[in-house]
Amino acid sequence: MTTPGRFIVLEGIDGCGKTTQLQALHRWLPTSGLMPPDAQLVTTCEPGGTVLGLDLRELLLERHGAARPVPMAELLLYAADRAQHVAKVIRPALDRGDWVICDRFTGSTAAYQGYGRGLNLCWIHDLEIIATGGLQADLTLWLDVPLAESCRRRDDQLNDRIEGEGAEFLDRVEDGFLELAMQRDWVRVNAERPVADVTKACRDIICTALETCGTQQQSGAITRCPSSGSSTGP
Ligand code: TMP
Repeated sequence: MTTPGRFIVLEGIDGCGKTTQLQALHRWLPTSGLMPPDAQLVTTCEPGGTVLGLDLRELLLERHGAARPVPMAELLLYAADRAQHVAKVIRPALDRGDWVICDRFTGSTAAYQGYGRGLNLCWIHDLEIIATGGLQADLTLWLDVPLAESCRRRDDQLNDRIEGEGAEFLDRVEDGFLELAMQRDWVRVNAERPVADVTKACRDIICTALETCGTQQQSGAITRCPSSGSSTGP
């Protein structure tokens, strides 16, 4: 399914540096000369890229004890977040010819709920198509850091419910990302390096993959991701 805009996704385990790289790409892309002059850049994230999604994010990440979703409910809540996000933010932006960078997308569901929780990967795939209407990223960058390094980086932060699932769960998620990167033709970025080097690698990959799209004029930027600054859902 083609759209006039371009859709870039960042994937990886918690602490891999996606949010930092999203911010760097948000500053760089509109001045990169890659985007058509009248295109805006939308940066967004899952879960939580819409008003409804912010509530779903809280249900997913902050509910403990009796309020904790069972794995299947968790999967369906991520799918609901994605359906709303694609319909309200991503698809309209791409249809306008804007560019979208998203912090996590369908790959995270396969990695965390599929490989991590052990839910049926075929069901997850079907649900992916239902929630996205078949929309796929033009380019997925997988920021690869070893789990030990990601844990070290998150050492002084409070874990959300998924991050707090423990080492064995996160091990399976890490293996899942490796497997998915091969299956889905993601581009691996070695993210165990200084931030500036990772940013340069991401830029180079984006230039190579998407350079046929633009001109040298500047384009605008819109932020819709709570973790990267001002947040305005539809
Ligand atoms: P974030 O910390 O990158 O914003 O992501 C929130 C958490 O949600 C993170 O631990 C990964 C998890 N997650 C899933 O388990 N499945 C999904 O489909 C998505 C998008 C995120």
